[in-house]
Amino acid sequence: MDDEQAPPGIDPTKAHPSRRYNYWLGGKDNYAVDRESAETVASAFPTVRLAAQENRRFLRRAVSYLAAERGVRQFLDIGTGLPSAGNVHEVAQEIDPSCRVVYVDNDPIVLAHARALLTSTPEGATAYLDADLRDPEKILTHPDLHATLDLSRPVALMLVAIMHFLTDDDDPYGVLARLLEPLAPGSHVVITHATGDHLTPEQYAETVAANERSGVPFRLRSKEEFTRFFTGLEVLPPGITSIVEWRPEDPPEKRSSVEDVSMYGAVAIKP
Ligand SMILES: C[S@@+](CC[C@H](N)C(=O)[O-])C[C@H]1O[C@@H](n2cnc3c(N)ncnc32)[C@H](O)[C@@H]1O
Repeated sequence: MDDEQAPPGIDPTKAHPSRRYNYWLGGKDNYAVDRESAETVASAFPTVRLAAQENRRFLRRAVSYLAAERGVRQFLDIGTGLPSAGNVHEVAQEIDPSCRVVYVDNDPIVLAHARALLTSTPEGATAYLDADLRDPEKILTHPDLHATLDLSRPVALMLVAIMHFLTDDDDPYGVLARLLEPLAPGSHVVITHATGDHLTPEQYAETVAANERSGVPFRLRSKEEFTRFFTGLEVLPPGITSIVEWRPEDPPEKRSSVEDVSMYGAVAIKP
């Protein structure tokens, strides 16, 4: 996008995760500052585009699994990103048109494009909340959340490629616990998260340094740190794995490598 055409409320001088992710996925809704930030990360972790694509593929598989095999009909998708092929409501409503989805993001550019997320079937519903994951109270008390989802019935809480934007100071484990509190037993939780576990010590140090330079706070987490998100939850098969090994559709020889993607994913249920 041309920096001079930035709509009101949108800052084209500071890199944003949603616009950078859009760039890695081959989209056009990004500014020079986002592309620079994206290339800074790619200079240390050259397969980051593949990681973004595989994350998107995981999202589609996870939503299909939840709707088709777990009977999930309500989704709370926090960190939605810019509308893209296979938005949660499109995948879920293909399986059952009555599915209801609440999208949440804190980026004004996602809000500006939110109309593309509000294309529900007549039988289902979608809503968009402009809110920050670090303020779970705002999300949980929002009237549009309650107008769209019935929290007395199970919901799938989707935190796909967002928790790594929460630093330790943001209390990511506390935020998740607060979001889970009002959800009915039988609710599902889906998380994907970047990791440095498969990098050499040099690559790890370079990746951390590149993320610091990129202008977007970012925290790689180890398998142990990722696993801590699921304390008190029952992780469903195949357990905590690389996203490329989570219910894969492709045979092993056609899959992206665990190292190139460097993301964990899992789906769990609240007992
Ligand atoms: C990498 S994208 C992931 C998009 C989508 N979930 C997916 O997996 O394809 C991360 C999204 O999280 C949003 N995000 C990051 N930090 C956030 C926060 N604290 N509150 C709400 N949204 C946030 C960004 O604006 C961005 O749209």
